[in-house]
Amino acid sequence: MPVIKSLGYNITIGKDALRSLSAFLKKTNFSSCFIICDENTIQFCLPKLITTCSILKDAEIIELESGETSKSLEFSAHIWQTLIENNADKNSLIINLGGGVVSDLGGFCASTYKRGIDFINVPTSLLAMADASVGGKTGIDFAGLKNSIGTFAQPKAVFVDPEFLKTLPARHYKNGLAEIFKMALISDKKFWEELKNLKPDHKAEQLVTKSITLKNKIVVKDPLDKGTRKILNFGHTIGHAIESLLLGTNEELLHGEAIVIGMLTESHIAFQKKFITKKELDEITFTLKKVFEPKKIGQLNFSAIFALLKNDKKTSKNKLKFSLIHKTGTCKFDVEVNESQIKKAIDLYNTSA
Ligand SMILES: NC(=O)c1ccc[n+]([C@@H]2O[C@H](COP(=O)([O-])OP(=O)(O)OC[C@H]3O[C@@H](n4cnc5c(N)ncnc54)[C@H](O)[C@@H]3O)[C@@H](O)[C@H]2O)c1
Repeated sequence: MPVIKSLGYNITIGKDALRSLSAFLKKTNFSSCFIICDENTIQFCLPKLITTCSILKDAEIIELESGETSKSLEFSAHIWQTLIENNADKNSLIINLGGGVVSDLGGFCASTYKRGIDFINVPTSLLAMADASVGGKTGIDFAGLKNSIGTFAQPKAVFVDPEFLKTLPARHYKNGLAEIFKMALISDKKFWEELKNLKPDHKAEQLVTKSITLKNKIVVKDPLDKGTRKILNFGHTIGHAIESLLLGTNEELLHGEAIVIGMLTESHIAFQKKFITKKELDEITFTLKKVFEPKKIGQLNFSAIFALLKNDKKTSKNKLKFSLIHKTGTCKFDVEVNESQIKKAIDLYNTSA
């Protein structure tokens, strides 16, 4: 079973991962345990977790509504309140059982409660397995801005059981694939070549292991996002703006769906800057459109997008800074991009979508 070493903790991947979690918990001296789930993972994943880890049978379950709107101050308050009402102390443990929403929110609440208590991630969506559960970024959305409040806090351990994916809806599976495609585009050309011909009967476990390995290599070099880690933001500058703008509307996009549009438009900016050739741009565009069938964004208001871009955490001194692929399989960060380059990329995306 693959075990990947990260920033002071291990990531265990495979069908026996929950058994490893059980053994880990038996050695851990926690005073009380809280399992954060959402309305789907409580139904589809919690029974397996409790059956395999009987030590958790008396754990307090905190259930959230599913979806991005739970990554809020209101739900953070609900978690902190439950911890206080149940006398959680410095030795209490939180287990985040769910997708990226649960691990971002649960990690955030754990890292702020009594100045930080331990948490373990047990990701259940493809996106959380391949990306969100690893690297120590936690957070919530605030004032209409994605991830605007958050902390860096490393989990005590991560246990990835790909069997959980059996109940994940297809739309959410594709959503997770988006981050895996991004990982390949920014850091591994050979992996990208494999993904270009991804078969419908591929093994998720291999993709997850590869994606975590690639992400982990990047985050251990730069845990606090000061330099090279910023390459993980490829597709996320425009992607996050679109995701924020549509949040709570009937056109709301999943994170990965917004990131696909971000990758398409930001690849065009990379082309305008001569970072990639026309051939590379066409190949990226063709592959992402074939796999993800992204939606048109013609109805979006550009000034609203620009206003959000100015609030992006990568923007400094009012200069828009992007992470852009620079030859397929490598990426540059802190690249200054101007409004007309962004407008051109979005216009071209609209006319070709
Ligand atoms: N911290 C990071 O480094 C990082 C990286 C990438 C994304 N993110 C964040 O992750 C979030 C998106 O994560 P997500 O796509 O996992 O969303 P999510 O947590 O909302 O999960 C997606 C959906 O799948 C359901 N689900 C999860 N596991 C299931 C299972 N095994 N069976 C059935 N249903 C299941 C959930 O209930 C939800 O409805 C975003 O908020 C994004 O900002 C964080």
